[in-house]
Amino acid sequence: LRVAIIGTGNMGSGLARRSVRAGHEVVIGSRDPERAASLGAAVGARGGDYASAAAEGDVVILAVPWWSIDSVLPLLGDLSGKILIDATNPVMDETGALQQLRGSSGAEEIAREAPRARIVKCFNHIVADVIHLDRSMQQRVTAFLCGDDADAKQIVARLAVDLGYDPVDVGALSCARLLEPMAALLLGLTRRGTVPADRAFALVPVGPGS
Ligand SMILES: NC(=O)c1ccc[n+]([C@@H]2O[C@H](COP(=O)([O-])OP(=O)(O)OC[C@H]3O[C@@H](n4cnc5c(N)ncnc54)[C@H](OP(=O)(O)O)[C@@H]3O)[C@@H](O)[C@H]2O)c1
Repeated sequence: LRVAIIGTGNMGSGLARRSVRAGHEVVIGSRDPERAASLGAAVGARGGDYASAAAEGDVVILAVPWWSIDSVLPLLGDLSGKILIDATNPVMDETGALQQLRGSSGAEEIAREAPRARIVKCFNHIVADVIHLDRSMQQRVTAFLCGDDADAKQIVARLAVDLGYDPVDVGALSCARLLEPMAALLLGLTRRGTVPADRAFALVPVGPGS
């Protein structure tokens, strides 16, 4: 897959590194193409601006702050038919508290702004520290995902497997209303130090013989 990653922060760099390790062709997009190029050089990817990265990707992973979405989405160019993975969380400030989107979710708001993209919510509830771990993880991490396009979800599920995660399709894009609070819960716990930063959600079999 050609994986375009939008944003060079904690999530973008981790997802870029993991995607390269998984054997994918990765192009990183930044507001500053030089920053994308130097991150690219560090992880084995190419770099460019948002538009060129998005144009190249079979999948485009959105790894920018929620408050930047209105300015970033128009810079991505024509997303018609593209798979847009929404790894963001609608947090408004450093506390990590979710913005209350009554009857909606960050992913659904993005879908309204990018109606031609095939949006899949995924990776938003896996903390960046875990994304940055190498593949010697002690436990399989669950990557919950949701979206309205079944084919797009299958492709994202395969990408999640390649990155070392167990994908679980939780349903329509509106199920992002469930996945975004999971991220707020876990990020809050790790930021307060209640749990170490290498914690993640994992659905594990617990029944006898399961
Ligand atoms: N950190 C986590 O553990 C974690 C876990 C799950 C999900 N998320 C979500 O993933 C997204 C990215 O998080 P992150 O931790 O990677 O954030 P980050 O380290 O702050 O990086 C965000 C990146 O977005 C780009 N960006 C575009 N417009 C921006 C603006 N107006 N202000 C700041 N940055 C802007 C920047 O890259 P360029 O300037 O190079 O374009 C920046 O490096 C967020 O929506 C977050 O909620 C984070």
